[in-house]
Formats: sequence, structure tokens, C-alpha cells
Amino acid sequence: MPRPLALARRAVIATLALPALHPARAAENPFSLGVASGDPEGDSVILWTRLLPAPARPVPVAWQVAADPAFRRILAEGQGLARPESGHAVQIEAGGLPAGRPLWYRFRALGHDSPAGRTRIPAADAARIAFVNTGCQHYEHGFFTAWRHIAADEELDFVLFNGDYIYEYAGRPVGTRGSVRRHEGGECLTLEDYRARYAQYRSDPDLQAAHAAHPFIVAFDDHEVENNWAGPHSETSGTAAADFAARKAAALQAWSEHMPLRPAQRPAGAAIRAYRRFRLGRLATLHVLDTRSHRDDQPCGDRLQHPCAELFRPDAEMLGAEQEAWLLAGAAAPGLHILAQQVFFCPRIFPDGRVSTDAWDGYPAARERLLSGLRARGVLHPVVLSGDVHRAFVAEIPGGGAEFVCTSISSEGDGREADPAAPALLARNPHILFHHARRGWTRHEVSDDGFTAEYWALPFVSRPGAPAHRIARFATRPDRPGVARL
Ligand SMILES: [Fe+2]
Repeated sequence: MPRPLALARRAVIATLALPALHPARAAENPFSLGVASGDPEGDSVILWTRLLPAPARPVPVAWQVAADPAFRRILAEGQGLARPESGHAVQIEAGGLPAGRPLWYRFRALGHDSPAGRTRIPAADAARIAFVNTGCQHYEHGFFTAWRHIAADEELDFVLFNGDYIYEYAGRPVGTRGSVRRHEGGECLTLEDYRARYAQYRSDPDLQAAHAAHPFIVAFDDHEVENNWAGPHSETSGTAAADFAARKAAALQAWSEHMPLRPAQRPAGAAIRAYRRFRLGRLATLHVLDTRSHRDDQPCGDRLQHPCAELFRPDAEMLGAEQEAWLLAGAAAPGLHILAQQVFFCPRIFPDGRVSTDAWDGYPAARERLLSGLRARGVLHPVVLSGDVHRAFVAEIPGGGAEFVCTSISSEGDGREADPAAPALLARNPHILFHHARRGWTRHEVSDDGFTAEYWALPFVSRPGAPAHRIARFATRPDRPGVARL
């Protein structure tokens, strides 16, 4: 059990305070996947690691949180158990911690010390919160250089990951279809497949550096399970419901094992409650949504389609009734409301009239119901954060509010400054103000002055070592319509 220790009572202790839990030191370091923290809230944060390799038995794992990187002032410590049935992953709820300052944590197991991670918890009275929104890290499409830059940003309170942490596809030879490095194994179908895929991704040193530097708040999208799945429906029509449920259960178990999540986000079979809320200081409420688990099947066929009658069904569900009610119940809190979610929210009508039915454009009645529900509760200008499209966009939500779509960490490779089709797309959608098609992330700040979005981009991801450039900056306010380019 965690033992929070009051700072004042704690004497300076030696750095080797972690007990030797097992007399035999394993030959191989079991911390090959690094460390992570996440879901910081109140006085606690989740600490994560997974032992790999690990013996086929439960393994005790000691942990510590300190006020300093040398672990001289220990604030909390305890012991967890890495179990084979959880892939030897551990998720520790470390409580009794001070908010609003950096904290350091580490583990010890099998006679080895983990690398130290740094984390922090937003203070309840924080007047400025900074975070990154990003997602979509197709391993084969590029190097995770963006993570190395994000790791170096010491001002961040957390990283928001909006989905596509892994891609489930089979490995493709390097040099084919944009592949610059290769997935190990075939398409992910079983728990072992998904675990191995997460282990491959989490072996990336840039991704490990980002996890060790900042707490993450993670959501999943489709590729954690299967491209464009929707609720109980597989992308492949004709897939037996029980088969897809088994695949989903395996995928969600592996996802939850590899993320720093609270117990409330553990799946039960193919069911999971991934949506949750965070208070960001005195400024804002962050609603992390799940647009994948509770939606109807895509109407009119998947991907880009000309609207058919089914698109306009009045009972369209994107969040599902329960999540929608939960979201609106949380809209009464004062300040800015940030909806962190996966797919493009604003209308995005392609020049030939088609829309993406996998995005909110496939569920326009659900979108309108959500916006009018928010307006009825006084949330006139929500901020919606999105990913999925592997491009950066900024849009003014028709009726009020702003959408900031981040690009990808690596999916779709180097990209370019702008899609050739972008001018026609923006002309058709005058509420879309900005477009960029390189890889990178968006850095956000919330303060009394409002909400800002800085778009960062890399000139290439097909080889390591790219510099990062800030390419544009925008601001919006919860009490005013519109987005200003700064
Ligand atoms: Fe993606």
C-alpha cells in the first residue's frame, strides 16, 4: 500500500532506500520499456512500468516518489505486484503528493533500479496550465522525433494523447508503402499480439523519454483495436460479433496494461469506461471523451462518402446516451470547457461534396445535440481538441467555440507544408482557418487570458534528428466567439 509521508517529518535518507525484494538479481534489466505516469489529479498520480523480460510468477515491485531527482527527500513509497496475467505491468496510485511542482519516481524489481521519471499534478489554484495534444504514431511511417522535443519542454503539465498509440497492421518490408521501419509480427489479433506491439512501440527511446518526462492523459481511437471499428462493429462486415468482442477485449486489455490509468479505466471484457474528467486548476475542465466505443456503425458506408439519407438519422449516437449525459452534467463547472476527443468535429465538406462518415460528419444529429446541450448549460464557446486526420487544422465551430486538430507524431510520414487539395477544401469550408500537413504536435496553454494553440512541425520523420519549428499560433476565449491568429 502507498505510504504517503509528510515532508516535514521526513529526514534526509540515503538514495538506496528501496528494499531488496528478491535476493536474486535477474541477468537482464526488466525495465526495458521504461517508466510512465499519468492521470494526475488531486494529490495523486498513476505510476506505470512493465517488467520485460519477467519470470512466469508474480514479481514484487517497489516504488518511490521524491521531491528531488536524487531521491533524497522521499514523499511516498510502497510496493506493488507485477502479475503474469497483467503482462507484468504495474499501475501504482501514488497519493498524498504535493501538486504544482515537479516530482520524481522510480521502481526497483528483480534486483534492478528503473530509470527515474518526472511527473507533476496540476495545482487546484493553478493560474496557467500547459499541455501538448498529439496522437497517431504509426511506427512504420517514421521516427518519433517529436517525442524527443516534447520531452525537453519542462514547462508542460501533461501530455494529452488522443489515440492511435499503436497501429494493428502486420509488418511491411521497409521501403514499401511509406515504411521506414518495420512492425514485428503479423496483424494484431490476440492479447499476445497486442502486448508485443505495445512492447515494440514502448521500446522506442524517444517515446520512452516523453513518458519519463511528463504525465500522460491517454485516450484510444480505432487503431488500438482495428481500423474504423464502431462500438460492437468490426470494420469488416461479416465478422461474427463474438469474434470481434474477443479481439476488442484482447486489444483493450493490452491498451490498459500499457497506459498509466486508474482502476476505473480497466476494461471488463470488451467493455471499458475510458471517458473521464480532469479539473485544470481554477481555469478549465478537461473532458476526455471516447468517440469509438459507444457510437453507431458509420452510415452510408465507411470513409469518404456522399451523404445518404442514413447520415441525417435524428437518433445518431457518437458518444452514446450515457456518455452524452455525463458530459452535459459536467458542463455546469465554471470556466473553459475542453473536449479532448479523437475525430474531426467541425463540418469538413470535401470539394466534391463528400464527407468523412467516420468523423462527426457521419453523426451530425449527435453533434448538434451535443452543442445545443452545452449551450443550454451556458457553455457557449467550448474548445474541442481532435486528431485522427494526420494533419493540423484550426476551425471555428459554427454556432460558437473552437476546434484545434493536431497532426500526427509519425503517421503518413514526412508529409508536406500543405495538401494540394487544401485551398479548395478551405474555400468550401470557410470556418476552417488553417491547415498544415507535416508531423508534430500542438502545444496549448490555458490562463486567465484564454486558450492558446501553438502548432509545431518537423520537416521530416523518415530519418531521425529533425528540428522542430513553431509554425502558427492561435488564441480563443471562453467568453467570446472566434479564433484569432497571433
Ligand atoms: Fe491515425
